[in-house]
Amino acid sequence: MKTNKEHKSPFRNLLVTGGCGFIGSNFIRCLIKNNDFSGRIINVDKLTYAGNPENLSDIAAAFPSRYIFQKVDICDAAGLEDVFSRYDIDAVCHFAAESHVDRSIKTPGDFIQTNIVGTFNLLECAKARGDKFKIFHHVSTDEVYGSLGADGLFREDTPYHPNSPYSASKAASDHLVRAYYKTFGLPATISNCSNNYGPYQFPEKLIPLIVLNALEGKQLPVYGDGKNVRDWLYVEDHCEAIWTIMTSGKSGETYNVGGKAEMENIIIVQMICDILDEIQPAKDGKPRRGLITFVKDRPGHDRRYAIDFTKLNKELGWSPRESFKSGLRKTVEWYLNQKKWVENIKTGAYQAWITEQYGS
Ligand code: NAD
Ligand code: TYD
Repeated sequence: MKTNKEHKSPFRNLLVTGGCGFIGSNFIRCLIKNNDFSGRIINVDKLTYAGNPENLSDIAAAFPSRYIFQKVDICDAAGLEDVFSRYDIDAVCHFAAESHVDRSIKTPGDFIQTNIVGTFNLLECAKARGDKFKIFHHVSTDEVYGSLGADGLFREDTPYHPNSPYSASKAASDHLVRAYYKTFGLPATISNCSNNYGPYQFPEKLIPLIVLNALEGKQLPVYGDGKNVRDWLYVEDHCEAIWTIMTSGKSGETYNVGGKAEMENIIIVQMICDILDEIQPAKDGKPRRGLITFVKDRPGHDRRYAIDFTKLNKELGWSPRESFKSGLRKTVEWYLNQKKWVENIKTGAYQAWITEQYGS
């Protein structure tokens, strides 16, 4: 994250929700390590299957006065109110969500509760802070815009057209945030970003799932014909974009964030196979591309996402730094080097540890 003099934050007690997840933990690490923010970070996380405190164990140990963890469900309004007053919260960066499309098809109710009701609870707490409150940043997705054909890009004024319970719940939360800005004057910004990748991503999402399956010689499931397109954003570029928006963005505005890296799923899976074959050849010596298996398509599978981030670039000077080729290699290497982290996820040891620390 670049240290920019203009990035002086007007807030001191930043509540980050979902900070034990993939993007939230990268955000907290970037913020604390790069000295962009000298105040306190209060991380509120329910620790669902996707929340792993190990993602920030180094930060918790090194910065005990600047990083505080609270196991709280954002659907628990009273629990949230307590955190807001106890820590004198004057800014929010809201990541907490049920985030996986496939799960939203199986258990949509969790998505409605956390993504919509949880966001509403946070907005109410922020509103109750009155003039003390400086900024509510809501992290959302490009999936709210629906699916593109072969051409075109999502812009901030593209009409919402969500197709999955996940994207519909995120769309609802975006509307709530905007409504609190308009109706109550709550200072708020929204970012809608493309698919993130990088360290600490839970291995249910395409890239880490393929890396870990390939290492174990398991099938590599590709939905449909594999030609669905996503735009890929390296997580640290995303974190930098969020901080830029929080500190320099205009209240009431939405900013699209993209990685300038449109890619068909099948190409990504092949690239991962080739990187692994080069760094750590399979024991049987066979190329891992042989593990690729086309499987039944996801219902309602959006064909293509692509982002126009001109507004963020022109108005706030942000653009992604990482190329997909180098970012993907760095990511694959990270998973290869994090044997204990991977093992704890695979065996469920991280969840046993959470139960031991916090109860069930
Ligand atoms: P993630 O699933 O890795 O992490 C979500 C975190 O939220 C976990 O730590 C989980 O324990 C926590 N959480 C879930 N329900 C909660 C609740 N009720 N109360 C408190 N904490 C709760 O998600 P991620 O990939 O890091 O995504 C973060 C945000 O970014 C989400 O809002 C998601 O919609 C958005 N987003 C993600 C991507 C992506 O590619 N990962 C792309 C666009 C937008
Ligand atoms: P995913 O990582 O689940 O993110 P999202 O659905 O939010 O875009 O999926 C990325 C793409 O990869 C999407 O087009 C679905 C596809 N996919 C597969 O082909 N196989 C898989 O096992 C998974 C998890 C995803």
